[in-house]
Amino acid sequence: MRKIKIAPSILSANFAKMGEEVEYLEKCGADLIHCDVMDGTFVNPITFGAQMVKEIRKITKLPLDVHLMITHPQSQIVNFAEAGADIVLVHYEACNFTAGYRTQEECIDDIISMIHRHGMKAGLVINPDTSTSVLRPYVTLADQILLMSVVPGYGGKTFIPETLDKIRLVRQYADAIGKEIDIEVDGGITEENVDSVIRAGANVIVAGSTIFKSEDKARTIRRLRGEV
Ligand code: DX5
Ligand code: ZN
Repeated sequence: MRKIKIAPSILSANFAKMGEEVEYLEKCGADLIHCDVMDGTFVNPITFGAQMVKEIRKITKLPLDVHLMITHPQSQIVNFAEAGADIVLVHYEACNFTAGYRTQEECIDDIISMIHRHGMKAGLVINPDTSTSVLRPYVTLADQILLMSVVPGYGGKTFIPETLDKIRLVRQYADAIGKEIDIEVDGGITEENVDSVIRAGANVIVAGSTIFKSEDKARTIRRLRGEV
């Protein structure tokens, strides 16, 4: 059995009480802290950057899973490494038309090796309308694949059911090369639909509103992990 990891998204936290929120998530049994970095360009909202991640690093020993919803992600890798990020996830779509690279592939290869050179795990993310097949060449290089199950930018949206087929396909790509890759799913995950996401082959579950709206976060985290 694959270990299921729960990554609460702090996008739904109270930003003015971030330290307490993260401390409490750790107490409640979270496996990772999912940090949503948004730049107002790649997605409309602006959240926070490396400075916030650096402060969160001081609060928790849990791995920090940094989801970069930003253009020109290559310019930020060193900042997040210095801030203490453990996993950095870049959007396939953000690597398109990025200045200084001849092709999108060259851009992605370079960013993944930059993340590795800085001692972090590298993840590649696709939006719901991007074909899963673009990920195939990167299943070898990347440590983690993140499938967006909502259009990125906001919490509390409805899970797009077509994501289940995308999860199965990425798991097939990884099995075909004998790799135990982490498959993460982000957006609209609830206590009701999480079982189907895990059954499809995902093992890292992001949840924002489901956890933050819960009156018993520890129980909700256990439920999302399939323990209750
Ligand atoms: C959305 C973010 C998600 C978000 C998920 O763009 O990437 O991490 O916080 O929130 P829920 O779980 O509420 O859909
Ligand atoms: Zn996210």
